[in-house]
Amino acid sequence: MKVLIVYDSRTGNTEEMAHAVSKGIEENGLEPILKKVYEASVDDLPNVKALILGSPVYYGLPTGKIKEVIDESVKYHGKLTHLVGGAFCSAGGTHTGSETTILALLEAMLVHGMIVQGNPHGNHYGPAAVGSPDDKAFEHCKKLAERVANLVKKLNP
Ligand SMILES: Cc1cc2nc3c(=O)[nH]c(=O)nc-3n(C[C@H](O)[C@H](O)[C@H](O)COP(=O)(O)O)c2cc1C
Repeated sequence: MKVLIVYDSRTGNTEEMAHAVSKGIEENGLEPILKKVYEASVDDLPNVKALILGSPVYYGLPTGKIKEVIDESVKYHGKLTHLVGGAFCSAGGTHTGSETTILALLEAMLVHGMIVQGNPHGNHYGPAAVGSPDDKAFEHCKKLAERVANLVKKLNP
C-alpha cells in the first residue's frame, strides 16, 4: 500500500523532515512515494492510500507551491474520501505560524473528505520543527508516519 508524501523546501529543513516521515512509512510496512513539490503530480492520488503534505511556514501558511498542488487536486474532488491524511511543517520560530500552517493543510484534506487523525499526546496537529530539525522533531515525524500507517492498515485490512 502506497503513501504519497509531497513537500516543499527551499533551505532543506522540511526536506529532512520529509525523509524522516518517508523512512517511518517504510518501517511500518507501507511504500512511500516521496516527491518534492515541483515533481509531484495529483495523478498519483488515485493510486495511494494516504497523502502527507509538508511545508515550510511562509507568513503563517503553507507555501504557494504546496497550495498549487492542493488546488490541482480538484481533479479528484469527491474521489479521495478513503485517503488518510497527515501534515508537518518547518518554521523559523516558535509560535510563529506552525499550527496555522499545519491546520491549513489538514483543512484542505477535510474539504476532500479525507480521514485525519490527531495526536492526544502532544504535537496534536502534526510535527513542527524550528529551523534545522533535531532528534525530537525526527521522532515526531516517525510518530506521524506510524499513526498514518496504522490507520491505513485499519481501513484496508
Ligand atoms: C517567504 C518566507 C516567509 C516565512 N514566513 C515565516 C513565518 O511566518 N513564520 C516562521 O516561523 N517562519 C517563516 N519563515 C521561515 C521558514 O519557515 C523557515 O526558515 C523554514 O525552516 C524553511 O524551511 P525549508 O528549509 O524547508 O525551506 C519564512 C521564510 C520565507 C522564505
